[in-house]
Amino acid sequence: MSMTHHFDYTLQNAQGGTCIAQAWAKVEPPLPASEKYRIQQSIKQALAAKNAVLIAHYYVDGDIQDLAIETGGCVADSLEMARFGRDHRADNLIVAGVRFMGETAKILSPEKRIFMPDLEATCSLDLGCPAEAFSAFCDSHPDRTVVVYANTSAAVKARADWMVTSACALAIVSHLKDQGKKILWAPDRHLGRYIQDQTGADMIMWNGDCIVHNEFKGEELSMLKRLHPGAQVLVHPESPESVVAHADLVGSTSALLNAVIHGDATQYIVATDKGLFHRMQQLAPSKQIIEAPTAGESATCKSCAHCPWMAMNSLNGLLHCLENQTGEILVPASIREQAYRCIDRMLSFSRQTGAGTAHGLVPNLGAA
Ligand code: 13P
Ligand code: SF4
Repeated sequence: MSMTHHFDYTLQNAQGGTCIAQAWAKVEPPLPASEKYRIQQSIKQALAAKNAVLIAHYYVDGDIQDLAIETGGCVADSLEMARFGRDHRADNLIVAGVRFMGETAKILSPEKRIFMPDLEATCSLDLGCPAEAFSAFCDSHPDRTVVVYANTSAAVKARADWMVTSACALAIVSHLKDQGKKILWAPDRHLGRYIQDQTGADMIMWNGDCIVHNEFKGEELSMLKRLHPGAQVLVHPESPESVVAHADLVGSTSALLNAVIHGDATQYIVATDKGLFHRMQQLAPSKQIIEAPTAGESATCKSCAHCPWMAMNSLNGLLHCLENQTGEILVPASIREQAYRCIDRMLSFSRQTGAGTAHGLVPNLGAA
């Protein structure tokens, strides 16, 4: 059973989240080298002067990822970003990613100020799961434990019993199933179905998807595999079932990265946002990364898999928010306190069990 909610991605949401076309229109064109260097230096100075740390997601521009590492911040998946921000001593967290990541940081660290280069950077999963409709869905299933993906608004999290990220979702749902719980899952239908297949849990689903991962194509992937018979196929579980079926490994962003770093193969076909390839190539320079296909009938079609909202994060945007204190994330106290419970539950679980650590690889039991 699933709950269908249609969202028109040509519209903005109530919080000012930007539609796909608007997002691409705001993406900064490549900067001349001298200009880029000047901005990077200014960002470094501003981070130090403002007691701020840069926390970047693997999908943002490679220059921003490099800057985060050079300045003692981090490049991570959404679970690790949350942990890093909570534990860091800086007064100000600069989150380069999408809005739910900034909100999670604020919920975990209300005493810190959280800034983002562009508050309109959102996520199709968040846009497609408005709090009011979601709350009504929960109300109609009071017997179910509500488990939401990190890619949701603070208001949706406030209605949830558990938050999960792709790094720990499988372990948490298995744990709930062992306790005899029935689950209401939102919003990613592909991740939900994958977890249901792996755990056998009783789950009803919200019908959302990620506009990036939803575009990978199973048929074209099987053709590409034939061209590269020695390649390992790595798939993020937000991808459709027909794509997951061809995977050697299904895993979270960090699990895919670890599979490339530690794997024996020399070639990897990867179905996830190509922003991750920057870090993959840095950490595993001898490995060949091949983009999984998103379209076309030919096995050699070229993926364009990149999140428009992640792409909105720019060097100029970073400098602007640091210098002018713009793009501050604020979450009303009542929502923050409610939402904190489900995030803290996830973090405690992953601390106690190790779920979502670097070794949290997810074997694809259903691999073709
Ligand atoms: P991670 O939780 O793996 O960082 O993924 C977040 C995301 O937006 C995936 O598309
Ligand atoms: Fe959301 Fe998909 Fe972008 Fe991740 S890649 S932020 S799930 S739209």
